[in-house]
Amino acid sequence: MVEPFSAVDVIKAKRQKQELSTPQIDWVIDAYTRGAVADEQMAALAMAILLNGMNQQEIVQWTQAMINSGERMDFSNITVPTVDKHSTGGVGDKITLPLAPLVAACGAAVPQLSGRGLGHTGGTLDKMESIRGWRADLSNDEMHQILQKVGAVICAAGPGLAPADKKLYALRDVTATVEAIPLIASSIMSKKIAEGASGLILDVKTGNGAFMSDPNMARELAQTMVNLGKDAGVNTRALITAMDVPLGLAVGNALEVQESIEILQGGGPADVRELTLRLAREMLEIVGIATDPEEKLDNGQAFDVWKAMVAAQGGDNDAPLPTAKFEHTITAGSTGTVTGMNALAVGIAAWRLGAGRARKEDQVSLGAGIALHAKPGQEIQAGQPLLTMFTDEEGRFEVAQQALDEAPITIGSSDQRIDQLPLIVERIS
Ligand code: URA
Repeated sequence: MVEPFSAVDVIKAKRQKQELSTPQIDWVIDAYTRGAVADEQMAALAMAILLNGMNQQEIVQWTQAMINSGERMDFSNITVPTVDKHSTGGVGDKITLPLAPLVAACGAAVPQLSGRGLGHTGGTLDKMESIRGWRADLSNDEMHQILQKVGAVICAAGPGLAPADKKLYALRDVTATVEAIPLIASSIMSKKIAEGASGLILDVKTGNGAFMSDPNMARELAQTMVNLGKDAGVNTRALITAMDVPLGLAVGNALEVQESIEILQGGGPADVRELTLRLAREMLEIVGIATDPEEKLDNGQAFDVWKAMVAAQGGDNDAPLPTAKFEHTITAGSTGTVTGMNALAVGIAAWRLGAGRARKEDQVSLGAGIALHAKPGQEIQAGQPLLTMFTDEEGRFEVAQQALDEAPITIGSSDQRIDQLPLIVERIS
C-alpha cells in the first residue's frame, strides 16, 4: 500500500509548530494502529505535541481518529437515558461504586466501563474484584442485558474500543509524554465518546494526590474535555474536585468496597456521601431526570440496585470481603487537631502495602491498604489510633511507613489554619 503521507513530514510539521491537517491526523492515527508508523515515530510526534500543543480543531480531529480506530457502542435499544462518569483518579476515590447504582435507582442507565489501577491511584475493577465471584469481563450482549435489567453495569472496556489509544497510551507511559493536555483529553474522551452514553460527567481531580496537581492545568483539561464531548454530541460537564487529602477513610480495594457499601446503606464518611450525591445530581440533570438521589440513598433503593448489579456479574453479596494477614496501627504522638494529611503519601503507602501494582501484569492484594481513623479538622488525643495499615506481607510495613514519613500527618492546635481545598473546587459546563 502506498502511504499518502510520510511520518517524518508529520513529525517535522509539529516540531515546527504547524497545525496538522485533518487528513494528516486521520492518516497518522490509522497508520500507527496498523503498524505502518513505528513506535519511535509516534513517540517523536507525541513529544512534539507535548512541547508545541495542538489547537481545538486538531484535538477534535485527533479524538475522532482514535474513536474511528475501533468500534462504537450503541445503547439506542436501552429504554431510559444513558449517562456515564469518568474520574481522573485519586487516593480513596471509590465514588463510582455507590454512584452507578444510585443514578440507576433514580431512573437512568449507567454503563460504566472502568480500568485497573496503576501507580498510587486505585482502579475500579480491582476494587470490585474484592467481591467473591464478580466478573469484570462481559460480552457486549451481557452488558446490554444487565444495563436494561438492573440499570447499572461496571465492567472492563473490551479490546475493540479505541485501540489506537491503547497502543498510544502504553507508548506515552514509557516516553514521558503522558502529561500533555491534548493527548490526555483525546485519550479519555475517545473512549468515553466511543462508549456511546448520551451524557457524561467528568470528575477532574486536583491537589497533590491527583494526576493534575496544578488547579490551572486541571481547569484547562476539564474545559478541553467538556468541549470535546459537546462537539461529539455528548452532553458533558465537569467538576474539579479536591484530591489533596484522601477521599473518605478507606484506601485499598476491599476496604473501599466496604466503605462504598456503608454509603449505600445511608452512612459512611461525609465527603464520600457529599461527592456521590453531587455527581449524581449533575448526572440526573444532564439527562433531565428530576428524582432526588438523597432519598434513594437513604431508603435503600440504591443499595438494592448495587446488590442486583453485583449478582448479575456473578458476585456473592453475602461473602465476606477479603482481609489482609497483618495489620499495624499508628497512634497520635500528641493531643490536638489533625492539621495536615497528604493524599499522595497515603496513596503511595497503600500501594506499597500491596493495594496497587507497579506493572500492568502485577497482582494486587485485595485486603491491603490503609484505614484512616482521623482526617484534617478532627480532634485527637495522644495515643489514639491515627491510621491502620493492612498487608499480606509483613516486610511491606517499613516501606509504607517511609512513604508516610515523607509527608507526615501533622497535629496542631485547634486555632491553627488548615490549608485544604474545598471538596468541589469548580464546575465547568
Ligand atoms: N487516562 C487516560 O485514559 N488517558 C490519559 O492520557 C491519561 C489518563
